[in-house]
Amino acid sequence: MDKLQIEGGPTLAGSIKVSGAKNAALPILAATLLTEKPVVIANAPHLHDVTTMIELLACLGVEVMIDEKLRVQVAAKTLMQLRAPYELVKTMRASFLVLGPLLARFGRAEVSLPGGCAIGSRPVDQHLKGFEALGASVEVRDGYVLAEAPHGLKGTDIYMDLVTVGGTQNIMMAACLANGTTRLFNAACEPEIVDLGNFLNEVGAKVTGHGTSTIEVQGVDALGSGSYRVMPDRVEVGTYLIAAAATGGSITLRDAEANTLGAVLEKLQQAGAHIAWDDNQIRLDMGGARPRAVDIETSPYPGFPTDVQAQFMAMNAVAEGTSTIKENIFENRFMHVHELNRLGAKIELHGSMTAVIQGVSRLRAAPVMATDLRASSSLVIAALAASGTTIIDRIYHIDRGYETIEEKLAQLGAKVRRIS
Ligand code: EPZ
Repeated sequence: MDKLQIEGGPTLAGSIKVSGAKNAALPILAATLLTEKPVVIANAPHLHDVTTMIELLACLGVEVMIDEKLRVQVAAKTLMQLRAPYELVKTMRASFLVLGPLLARFGRAEVSLPGGCAIGSRPVDQHLKGFEALGASVEVRDGYVLAEAPHGLKGTDIYMDLVTVGGTQNIMMAACLANGTTRLFNAACEPEIVDLGNFLNEVGAKVTGHGTSTIEVQGVDALGSGSYRVMPDRVEVGTYLIAAAATGGSITLRDAEANTLGAVLEKLQQAGAHIAWDDNQIRLDMGGARPRAVDIETSPYPGFPTDVQAQFMAMNAVAEGTSTIKENIFENRFMHVHELNRLGAKIELHGSMTAVIQGVSRLRAAPVMATDLRASSSLVIAALAASGTTIIDRIYHIDRGYETIEEKLAQLGAKVRRIS
């Protein structure tokens, strides 16, 4: 099993290019099932999760090719089956996003229930509620969700009980081929939802309001072909900016969109970072200074993203002062706390959703273990800021979400090596 070996100390400096967003590429790839015409997706990151989604499409009978420019070419003309098996869904929850497109286009789909997850229980009740509102019959049998709408879906008004990114995406996709207009209230506003809406419109859908809490989808008979470039990964951007801040560094991220990161940039400025940006790059300069501790509380977009919480905690662990971090989205997203404490951090949990971090001037290397994707990147940040050589075990988690992380960190001057 691969591990990362990181010799802490160097301040990060230099420039790297940001990859395409995993959390935008996954729903967009699922959405290609809505059309029988060929679709080309550019800037999809080379990550395990993206490979899993491609495998799932292939297993349904979709023709998928990667061309010489590393674009994914998809043709979902003929499908062999409408069933997403447990083996693939259990390795990646985003597989559940094929349900909406399959149901809308073929009137039937069977997708394994995703089951539990390291960061929380993550039910899919809101997805199912949306499909039922669109006229489908939904049944859970033998661990699979079986959804049917033999006469097609019917547009309607849907009020989501809570803000869910995946639920919004699944229902939005299904509504594209429904008969009539769907209005989705209390929809998620994340930039990845905007990216999905823009892709859907590129292939002929009629989606408006994406990026606001009310999305309107006018159903059409069929979608066509098109090509689309996936947005830059805002979580990757946040991760590298925080890593630079934690090490007192100065970095430039190319292909980064500052307008998707308002809450993170503001908190980094409060921590003492000088940040400047233009249309497609962000520069952070910490001037060698130690960061100041900053309180954060996660919430749906445009609030502070849960996917950047663990990384910010690693920075607060070496910051001047004491801070509080409250996680409001997932009930078990503090597993990095115990590992950070192994590196000498002083973090106390108050209940399961609040952590109090007393900044220390230096962390010290120790063997640690990655427990989920973003928890792993928080350990990388802590290891970069620690004295000595840290070995992070189980980094397959990190490979799900960070393209060539050791190469990018090395470009920024970090001393990092993948070992087995
Ligand atoms: C997406 O997950 C992201 N995944 C997650 O990224 C991210 O943390 C999350 O949104 C929140 O921003 C992808 O985009 C592939 P949700 P998703 O539905 O869609 C509850 C990462 O590290 N809920 O917005 O699964 C749920 O339990 C990851 O890249 C219900 O109760 O998240 C959670 O508490 C991990 N019922 C909250 O809503 C439902 O039907 C938000 O979940 C659906 C969700």
